[in-house]
Amino acid sequence: MNRSGKKVIELEEWKKLAKHYQAIRDTSLKDLFLQEPGRGVDFSVNACGLYLDYSKNRITGDTMTLLLGLAEAVDLRAKTEDMFTGRKINCTEGRAVLHTALRRKSDDPVLFDGEDVMPGIRQVLGRMKECSSRIRSGEWKGYTGKPIRRVVNIGIGGSDLGPAMACQALRPFAGTDIDFFFVSNIDGTHLSEALKGADPETTLFIVASKTFTTQETMTNAESARSWLEDSLGGREAVRNHFIALSTNEPKVKEFGIDPENVFGFWDWVGGRYSMPSAIGLSLMIAVGPENFQEMLDGYTAMDEHFRNEDFSRNLPVLLGLLGIWYNNFFEAESHAILPYDQCLARFPAYLQQADMESNGKSVTRDGQKVSWQTGPIIWGEPGTNGQHAFYQLLHQGTKLVPADFIGFARSQNPLGDHHRKLMANFFAQTEALAFGKTSEEVREEGIPEELVAHKVFEGNRPTNTILAEELNPRTLGSLISLYEHKIFVQGVIWGVNSFDQMGVELGKVLAKKILPELDPGEEFRPGHDSSTNNLISWFRDNCRKEA
Ligand code: F6P
Repeated sequence: MNRSGKKVIELEEWKKLAKHYQAIRDTSLKDLFLQEPGRGVDFSVNACGLYLDYSKNRITGDTMTLLLGLAEAVDLRAKTEDMFTGRKINCTEGRAVLHTALRRKSDDPVLFDGEDVMPGIRQVLGRMKECSSRIRSGEWKGYTGKPIRRVVNIGIGGSDLGPAMACQALRPFAGTDIDFFFVSNIDGTHLSEALKGADPETTLFIVASKTFTTQETMTNAESARSWLEDSLGGREAVRNHFIALSTNEPKVKEFGIDPENVFGFWDWVGGRYSMPSAIGLSLMIAVGPENFQEMLDGYTAMDEHFRNEDFSRNLPVLLGLLGIWYNNFFEAESHAILPYDQCLARFPAYLQQADMESNGKSVTRDGQKVSWQTGPIIWGEPGTNGQHAFYQLLHQGTKLVPADFIGFARSQNPLGDHHRKLMANFFAQTEALAFGKTSEEVREEGIPEELVAHKVFEGNRPTNTILAEELNPRTLGSLISLYEHKIFVQGVIWGVNSFDQMGVELGKVLAKKILPELDPGEEFRPGHDSSTNNLISWFRDNCRKEA
């Protein structure tokens, strides 16, 4: 519900967009570019080292005026201020949403419940810098006096995806030969693989968990602790080989991690927004405190841009509105994230959690069932791999899949002409998606008539292109912040609470109930539906058999 007391679909601005959609839905990008030859420049914005070209969208100037009107109508500016200034906008959990404070540069206080959160943030950041420098320099010693050679981050979701993605993205900035592993899955294979060839004397575990109760993380952490104790002879060794990143001090203590090795954060940092907090420690060890700070500066630049820039030149607002246009008017079901950089291989997975856990909601902030579409399915792969897998559907399938293409002017790993070839593909794909190939053009190529239909590309497939000079810590910070705020914009428009994740609970509760039932040594009293009962019985019958 908006300040006007109306649902979003009842707003005049929404209705105008619906009408405008009917008028524009069949207009082709080809025609739009013919009518407006300057589109490529007119529909582009440069900010925080990122260049956004959104001209290959099925929009006109009128579309943008109407979309921008919608942003005003839902009080986006005021709601943005609510977030930045610590109002408890996570209404279902009664929490503020202050991840932007984690990377704030200004000396101004950020008040939460009357207290400035900035000194606490700076204190933890300072300790992280000190700790990561000691580990990188070899000053931090394992139990037997050897420096750390392998860091294993144990966490899941927001306590894994960010640092795992960023460690890969910024590998060329590492300046250390410490090896990094990220263990998230409760499947024992994940931890076992990370420990293959590991020397317990030089391995450091970072247990990252906001709650310190997550089943996957605690199971992995306990197995890691046993592995360490078995090799190094007891609990004493844990002190030198375990660090915790958590808001739950009592639980960390219970686990046996030295309080000096605990880096805290706060319940106003959502898991999926937590990389700039203590959760980023493994990344800071990987790239060094200076690069980590650079990344924070990149985040901050985008935060300030989002907070202050006019909506018409505001990158997160533009991306958010364009997403609404396809999601709610063209009824697109998904949105592809296509980074043309191998270092960003995990970026789509990272954004999957950020976006789908935030906006995958069916009720509004006040608990009313929505009658409009909310968050899209986010997916993607790095270019050019996707081209040889799912781009067929993007080009010729029956579904409309808006996509963000992300590319860089310079490679982190220049090698012959690889980068130019990569980027030639990058530019070619958005051109092909937008403009396609007509049957006349196919015939002109001398294609036999029976194949013409198969070789036609209808085009009119919308894309955003995001370019930056290079993928570095600062660019990465800005890029992440761009998407965080894009998600925020969309959540405001849909009227959902983007900061809880209650949809993950039910499965967790049922898994706890099922766990003892999987023990074939215990009697099984079927208490589920016939499908689940049968499946559990099948598992019990087969889990002990030799392969
Ligand atoms: O998947 C649900 C979730 O709560 C995420 O929001 C969170 O990032 C993840 O689990 C891990 O939680 P924790 O950091 O508390 O272990």
